[in-house]
Parts: sequence; C-alpha cells; structure tokens
Amino acid sequence: MRPMNLSASSRLLVAAALTQLGAISGLSQALAQVVSESIGDRSVRFHASAGAREGAHPSYALLKEPEQKPAPAKFPVAPVFSTSEGKQQVQISIEPGTSLYGTGEVPGPLLRNGRQTVTWNTDAYGYGEEATSLYQSHPWVLAVRPDGSAFGVLADTTYRCTVDTGYTNAGEIRFVADGPAFPVIVINANSPQDVLKGLGQLTGKMPLPPAWALGYHQCRYSYYPESRVREIASEFRTRQIPCDVIWLDIDYMEAFRVFTFDRGLFRDPKKLNADLLGQGFHNVWMIDPGMKSRTARGPSDRPEEELAAEGPEVAKARAAELAKYEAIMASGDQADVWVKRADNTVFEGEVWPGWCKFPDYTRPGVRQWWSGLYTDFMAEGVSGVWNDMNEPAVFNVPSKTMPETNLHAGDPAMVKPNGKAQGDEAKGDHARYHNVYGMQMIRGTREGIQAIHPDKRPFVLSRANYIGGQRYGATWTGDNTASWSHMEESVPMSLNVGLSGQPFIGPDVGGFAGNGDAKLFSRWFGFGAMLPFSRGHTGKGNINKEPWAFGPEVEATCREALNRRYRLMPYLYTLFREASENGLPVARPVFFADPKDAALRSEDDAFMLGADLIVVPQMIPDGSRVPTLPSGTWREFEPTKNLDIPKLLVRGGAILPMGPVQQFVGEKPLDPLTLLVCLDDSGKAKGTLYEDAGDGLGYQKGEFLLSTYEATLGDGVVTVKLAGVEGKRARPNRPVTVRVLLHDKVMEGTGTDGQAISVKLK
Ligand code: NOJ
Repeated sequence: MRPMNLSASSRLLVAAALTQLGAISGLSQALAQVVSESIGDRSVRFHASAGAREGAHPSYALLKEPEQKPAPAKFPVAPVFSTSEGKQQVQISIEPGTSLYGTGEVPGPLLRNGRQTVTWNTDAYGYGEEATSLYQSHPWVLAVRPDGSAFGVLADTTYRCTVDTGYTNAGEIRFVADGPAFPVIVINANSPQDVLKGLGQLTGKMPLPPAWALGYHQCRYSYYPESRVREIASEFRTRQIPCDVIWLDIDYMEAFRVFTFDRGLFRDPKKLNADLLGQGFHNVWMIDPGMKSRTARGPSDRPEEELAAEGPEVAKARAAELAKYEAIMASGDQADVWVKRADNTVFEGEVWPGWCKFPDYTRPGVRQWWSGLYTDFMAEGVSGVWNDMNEPAVFNVPSKTMPETNLHAGDPAMVKPNGKAQGDEAKGDHARYHNVYGMQMIRGTREGIQAIHPDKRPFVLSRANYIGGQRYGATWTGDNTASWSHMEESVPMSLNVGLSGQPFIGPDVGGFAGNGDAKLFSRWFGFGAMLPFSRGHTGKGNINKEPWAFGPEVEATCREALNRRYRLMPYLYTLFREASENGLPVARPVFFADPKDAALRSEDDAFMLGADLIVVPQMIPDGSRVPTLPSGTWREFEPTKNLDIPKLLVRGGAILPMGPVQQFVGEKPLDPLTLLVCLDDSGKAKGTLYEDAGDGLGYQKGEFLLSTYEATLGDGVVTVKLAGVEGKRARPNRPVTVRVLLHDKVMEGTGTDGQAISVKLK
C-alpha cells in the first residue's frame, strides 16, 4: 500500500462544526476538518479529522486496505461529522424523492425510508417487524436519487451502529456508533447497479459456488437417524421432485459436541454421504462455535439405559467420538484459542451442549486451528458446512450473547487507514468484535475446507455475518415464522441483503417457527424456488414440511416450481457467475429495470432475477394484489392459473438460456439448450450463457465457455446467432431449441449450437 501524503490529498469537503470531539478517542481538537481520500473509481473515504484517520481501526468490510489517492475536487456527497452523547455521528443529507435501501438483513418492507436499524448480530428467533437487529450487520445504505443516479454509504465500523434512514429526520441518513471515530465510505454512481459494483470492488465478491449449491436444499431440525435421511432422499427421487442437497442439523452430533457424530444414530456417515452422492445428493452438516467445555457427559447426552441397549460396538464407536472430542478440546486449551473474560480467564457460556468455550476467530492462528479441525470431518465425505449460532448466541443471559467486556486477540497484521499495521491495537473487547465474530468463523471454515479440497469450491452457510462476508459464505434469514407476513417479507429481506453485497441469500422456505398450513407452504414454495438460496427448513417438533407432506396438490405445485428452477438453471448459473464477477445481486428489486421510475421504488412483492426476468408471486391468499411493474415489453412465460406459482415475465430484448428438467444439477448434459427469445421493439434480443465444470477452480484459468447469443428479426424471420465466445471450454455439439415469445403465442425452431437458427413467424 502506498502511504498517503495527507497535506496533498486532504480536502476540506464540509465545514462542519464539530464539538466535544475529545469524547471520541483519536480526536483531540475541538474543531476539526474532515479528511478524505479516494479509494476506488467512484469511492471516497471520509474521516472526521486527521486525528480520527490516525486512530481508525482496520476495516473488516473492505477486502483489503485500498490504495489511496487524492479525493476528487468535487464530490456530490458530503458527510457531516459530529458527536451525539459522546459517540461519533455522521449525517448525510438526501434530496427529496431519494429512496433508501440496503441496511442488510432487516424485517419489513424493501424501502427503508423512515426506519432505524442497529447493527448488532442477534439471535432473533421468530423476530417481529419491530426488531432493529437481526443476525447480520451491514452498516450500509443505498440511496437512489429521483433521477435514478445513486450513492451508497458505508459506516466502516464493526461496533454497534445505529443506521437511521430518515427515522429521525426524513432528509438525511445518519449513523451513530459506539467505539472510536470511524470513517465513512461513499460510492457515487450513475445507477444503483454501478454503486453495487463499486461495493463489490471494495468489499469483495461472492466466490463462484459449486453448481450443486444452486439446486434445491432440503433441511429440517433435524433429520435423524440415518434411515430417515435415506428415506427423505429416496422420496425425492421416487416422486421426481428435483433436489440437490440434504442437510444435517445438530442432532447428528454426539450430544452437540461439534466435529463428532452420534454413532448410534449415524453409524457410518461416510457411507451415508457416499450413498447420497450416488443418488445425486450433496450433503451439508452443521458446526456451531460453542464447544462443550465441562463434563464428558451432561444433560444433552442420551440416557445411560438407552446407550446400554445399543450394544458394545456402538458403545465403542461413541467412546472413540468422545475421545476425539477430548483431543480437540485439549488442543484448543494448549493453543489457548478461547475468547476470554475481562479478567483474562476463559469465558464460558451456555448453548446446546451446556457450558461451552468459544474459539476466538479474530486471531489468525485460531482460524488456522479451526480450519484444521475440518480435516477428519470432511474425510467423512462432507460436501458443505453450515455454521449456525455464530452471532455468537449464548443461552440464559438477557443479552443473548457474550459480555461486551470479553476479550479478543484480533489480527495485529491488519492494516489501518493510516497505512500501518495495527500491531498491539488488535486486542479488543467483544463490543468491537461482536459483529465480525461469525464472519471470522466462516472465514476459518471456508479456508479450512478449501485447503482440504483444493480441487473443489467450498460451500459454507452462515447465520451471522458482517458486510463483506459474502467473501466467505452464503447466508439465510434465520428463524422466521410460518406466517403470511414472514412469507411476504422474505422477499424484501432477501433483496436488501443482496443490495448490501451478499447475493447468495434466501429464507427458510415454509417458515422455521410454527407449522403453518398447506396453503402457506405451497405459496411460499412457489416463489421460494426462485430465490438465490432455496432451502426448505423447519424447527424441531413441527409437522413434516417436505414438498409431499401436504398432499398431492401441494406436491404438484412444489414439483412444478422446482422443475422451473432447474430448467432455468443455465440462466441462474450465469447470474451467479455475473455476481461473482461484478458484485451485482442475483435477486434484484424491480426498480432496477428502470431506476428513474419512482412508481417502482417500493414494489417488493415482485422481484427480478438478473436483468431479464421478473418473478411475480402473489403474497395474499386470494391473489388480488396487483404489483407495480416496469413499463416496456415484458412477456409472460408459460402462464399458469395456479396462484401458488409466480408469474414469470421476460424482458423484451433478452435471450434466456434454459435446460431440461433434471433431478439434480449435472444429472443431464445441457441438451437440448433452449434459448428463450423475447424481442424488443426493434426486433432484437441478446443473452449470455456461462458454463464450466460446475465445481473446481479450473474456471479461473479460462476453463469455461461464455456464449453471447443475438437474435434479429427480418422479413418475418427471427435468426439467432452466436455473437461472441469467451473461455477455452469446448462447445458441446448439441441441439438448440429457439423459442420466440410473441404476445399471443410461442414460435419454435431448432438447430445446432454455434450455427445460425431461424424461426419463421407466421
Ligand atoms: C438455530 C438455527 O437458526 C436453526 O436453523 C437451526 O435449526 C437450529 N439453530 C438448530 O441447530
């Protein structure tokens, strides 16, 4: 990193009156000048003063400490720094008609004007609309001006931060955070899309996931024993309902000790995983941060009589699991990996297994230790890892987490905005590290499983995260409820997470808390099958919620919904690839189709997949709501009368690549390739298709095929041609079906990929 010459690059952007700055550590003057530096194409970082810049912590949001350049002479956004009750406050005024989004994982509507969010990762089972803190923290606001231009503001602090999007004053965005003075990063651009690309450049992008992770995931708390898991898998195949992944929640463990298996319930996890893979299912197993610390046995262990009945072989296998666990804990003690209390003794808190110690993932050496624990675990044929409870959640305390005075080691090598490594300043309390605890956990998990399988793409799902955490794992929206209101808000919640840098997101489809009923499940499943992360899940003790659990009618809807997802998989995979390259969300608000159109700004029932497809679910039972949709040509694709199946609208000017129905990703080759063509008013259309091995990192060395197709209408004939090719993967010799969507019918033609294909419109 190039050290910055402050006198050359500092600019006074705002003559803000700053008072009582001595209350904020790192600031000593009573009045100070805002200092700013350019840190990207359209990105400027502002500090309250030179002293604030000097004292600022390294950023966990940014991919790395960026190269700094002098700030532009003119920049349209000017944060105003001050203090409020001893905390740093930053205000950014917005012009009337500006729409606010982002702020991460939030309940309620898409549009965030008039709201308040507090970044503090919280175990929020069954959260209500009034909840201000959920499981993830994104101190980030996307502001779309009336003319469709946009800017984004990131309060670069890991501390608890109030993100006020016009709650106190409709004319401004306001951040107030605990801890020392923090910088604010502003990305200004001509469109919200470009702001998000800028966010991706600064905070990093979601690495391309394995293709199987884009399939449907079946989960519950918990599938056990092994025979039940096999039964679920077979039902999917027998009933011909597509599914790629079966999930194993905590009950697979030996009394919730992480990295162990209950060998009574799961005699041979390796064989189970191999057999599932043979049927086309990948698997994901849960690992929590709390590590059982006290007795070898406890209340979560099975009763002695039950164990005695299992016989000597299982007893021996159980003993081996316990011995393995004791060795893990001993290695943790030896390396002193644990989070400490304020008095420097090891902290213990209660979670599922009873009293637990918690690894201090902020320390690089601890992440390495944690990474290593996955070696034996992955050797059981585990395909993906689910890190849960990592806010971190702690039971039986009002705060639901560890004390803010707990101590973390941090990472001395991290570089501060002043260009220096932080060294000893890395040590900090839990108040500073709480919001990145889960992020650093999944970082260790991801790095571990990547090192164990360098030839595969890791898949990690996390409940807690922090802005920038898309670099390490996918997230879901936590413990929602089986209610119509949570069904409805699962769309805006997923969209706002996407607008905060995380494209791989979705809810527990069907709802986690409570049973719900057939109607709710069917409706939710219909569009849940179209969200980027599509997983059915439900809580312990609830009724069965597999696609067939509510009878044949609901089962048919679920099948149809998933058949569509799988047929659209070539398009979806292309979108994931795009997101991994440019940071754009996979699921987008409809206003992305026309950011100037004020009428679209609050539409949050319908959503877009990429730029070319609108998904229109019906969020109220009778289906009477009429969504506000973008003007221009949008043609319905395969209309259905089933209200539980969302309408799909294709953009005029788009070509969508589609494939055959398959029961899991990769079951069949992309043959035939279907190109769904929707011409624009000038009789043209264009689309891309990205293909690669579906796993592994060969794509980073050019082993992919990116095809651009173009369609033109002339003399009543639509001709589709391959207009561009990137990558060195060979083009398969495959048939192509071109389907041209007209306003009242669909016309088809066939040919071979790579050659011109014509469809006569009669
Ligand atoms: C809490 C998670 O949010 C939920 O999805 C999971 O089923 C339970 N923990 C049990 O592990």
